[in-house]
Amino acid sequence: MKILVTGGAGFIGSHIVDALIAQGHCPVVVDNLSSGCKENLPADVPLHVVDVCDQAALEEVFEKEKPDLVCHQAAQMSVSLSVKKPSFDAQINILGLINTLELAQKYKVQKFVFASSGGVLYGNVTEPATEDYPANPISPYGISKWAGERYLQFFSQEHGLKTVALRYANVYGPRQNPHGEAGVVAIFCQRMLQGENTKINGDGKYIRDYVFVEDVAQANRLALLEDAPEIHSAFNVGTGRPTDVNELASELKSLCEKALQQRGLATQVPASDYGPARAGDLRSNLLDASRLQKLWGWSSGMEFNCGLAKTVEWFAAEKLDT
Ligand SMILES: NC(=O)c1ccc[n+]([C@@H]2O[C@H](COP(=O)([O-])OP(=O)(O)OC[C@H]3O[C@@H](n4cnc5c(N)ncnc54)[C@H](O)[C@@H]3O)[C@@H](O)[C@H]2O)c1
Repeated sequence: MKILVTGGAGFIGSHIVDALIAQGHCPVVVDNLSSGCKENLPADVPLHVVDVCDQAALEEVFEKEKPDLVCHQAAQMSVSLSVKKPSFDAQINILGLINTLELAQKYKVQKFVFASSGGVLYGNVTEPATEDYPANPISPYGISKWAGERYLQFFSQEHGLKTVALRYANVYGPRQNPHGEAGVVAIFCQRMLQGENTKINGDGKYIRDYVFVEDVAQANRLALLEDAPEIHSAFNVGTGRPTDVNELASELKSLCEKALQQRGLATQVPASDYGPARAGDLRSNLLDASRLQKLWGWSSGMEFNCGLAKTVEWFAAEKLDT
């Protein structure tokens, strides 16, 4: 199958590309490289440096590639930027999505998969939320993801386009950008391996559901290629396992110390400091992914400590071995 992955040069998109290649499919990528980079992709994967907001340029890609399926990962990811510039967020995350949906419909794509977010839809939840938990997004980023899901539903009902929204928990793993505001694992790995201080916001007792990026890529592969009973469906992609930032920081500290020791470098990583709490940070967010498990047998196969170890090793190889 030929599968167009928008945002495919980014963190999650590039792992989806790898998962599709491993199953013998032919991914092609659209990415404006605003946060992604072509080094994330195998050299022989076609990369179209195109903005999803530019519908004419995007149509040239559809015309040339005639994809069977579309996996839409392209988005602006910053919650704080969305608060400062809601129109910028909506241009990419809503209008860019609609451009892609219109072309998917016009070029008779068989299925459209969209990266949504459980964190921003469900807000504060102390028990793993199922897909039926009421969505109540408060940031423009969350509102744009929710609106995106409603547009998928509209295209399914009105035009018969098969659509799936995948609501990710906190995704972590190799290739995550350590310069963004999200991705505490990537930020801490980068800083700890360089011997820099890390700061925990507030008391650090912020519970999150961390899911490994290769498991998220498998969820996308299943959503693209397996049949769903409904023409539109939404699935959580998470582990339901609670981890707070204090535990995370302490585990990363010991893994980074081990990686440094193995390279004959400094053996002590400074313990994290505590700073002021960040306004609006959720206390707890967890997802129940049993719907995805029951339908397609998906599981968050990666144990958390193994996933963290793989991530630290990747950052260490990138930062220390080159
Ligand atoms: N990382 C997470 O924990 C998480 C959680 C929930 C949802 N998501 C969603 O998953 C998707 C992928 O996120 P990621 O973590 O890989 O981030 P990322 O920033 O690494 O990937 C996004 C990709 O989209 C590209 N892009 C951005 N704007 C574009 C535009 N206008 N036109 C074309 N390409 C554009 C970027 O260059 C980048 O390669 C996003 O839709 C994001 O909202 C991520």
